[in-house]
Amino acid sequence: MQTTLTDSAEVAADFLNSGGVVAFPTETVYGLGAGICHPEAIRKVFRAKGRPGDNPLIVHIYNLEQLADVAAEINGNARVLIERFFPGPLTLVLKKNPLVPDSVTAGLESVGVRCPANLVAREFLSYCSCPVAAPSANLSGLPSATSWESVYEDLNGKIDCVLRGKPSAIGLESTIVECSGSVPILLRAGAITLEQLQAVLPEIRVHVITDAEEAPKSPGLKYPHYAPKASILFCSPNESVSIEPSSAYIGLSEPPEGVSLFRICLNLEEYGRELFSFFRHCDAQGIKVIYCELPANCGLGRAIRDRLLRASGRH
Ligand code: TXA
Ligand code: MG
Repeated sequence: MQTTLTDSAEVAADFLNSGGVVAFPTETVYGLGAGICHPEAIRKVFRAKGRPGDNPLIVHIYNLEQLADVAAEINGNARVLIERFFPGPLTLVLKKNPLVPDSVTAGLESVGVRCPANLVAREFLSYCSCPVAAPSANLSGLPSATSWESVYEDLNGKIDCVLRGKPSAIGLESTIVECSGSVPILLRAGAITLEQLQAVLPEIRVHVITDAEEAPKSPGLKYPHYAPKASILFCSPNESVSIEPSSAYIGLSEPPEGVSLFRICLNLEEYGRELFSFFRHCDAQGIKVIYCELPANCGLGRAIRDRLLRASGRH
């Protein structure tokens, strides 16, 4: 299959509206979109990524009018979060509208809904004739793509079109809050922090994954994720570690002595934005071990920690 690269949101939407699969930029990471009214395109998304069929997709909407086509019920908690954080890097899990095909939600009674703030994403969604189901635009298990070049690296020849935009401003996937029950639950940490959520919904709980859990609340949580080919090891500031050959470092502090490639980030925002592209860069350079500084479990640090722990296979 020929993959068209375009800078035009309208051209990209034409591909989607005729049943194609299109990668597009958002402020979190690039998404791989298919119209929810095109069941064959939804299947193509799973095939292109090599994604297990029991891992549901997030549905992207342009405005709140479209929300009614996707969700069956929007309770008080959901309204509070929508009012405060839409459009933005937040996904709400709500009771699904029967119009949403089972292939999108992997047969669940709920659906993840997100309204991105990125202007190119918004222009693209405005031209799409139905809401757009989109997982992150990377091969399953690899770090999410935060630039169109990374999308192209993973998916060239497997998808119809890539809408080129700038590198993702946040670089980490959206915060996910399960909002269909009476108590909201944080399923995945992201740039909308737990502290920000608590400020408007003090009763919010954090989902803890247990091995005994047979049906995880978010099916994606059980799959390996975000992993570069290199192994991930953790180091603390000023800790002297015995450095493996061809190793790299990313974090906020000075790197351990002897690493051949490193990235010191000025703050957590930069750490989050750079993390996945650094992983990919290390793989391209043949790095075998990436030392990472684990930030404290608060604010944006919670999301970065989560991705690092998963990438290291510890979640
Ligand atoms: O920032 C993002 O969320 C990006 C951009 C493209 O929007 N998308 C993204 O999609 O990260 P994906 O497919 O890589 O991750 C979606 C996660 C998966 O872990 C999936 O299991 C979970 O959301 N999810 C989707 N629908 C769900 C539902 N109804 N209930 C619980 N979890 C759900
Ligand atoms: Mg993903």
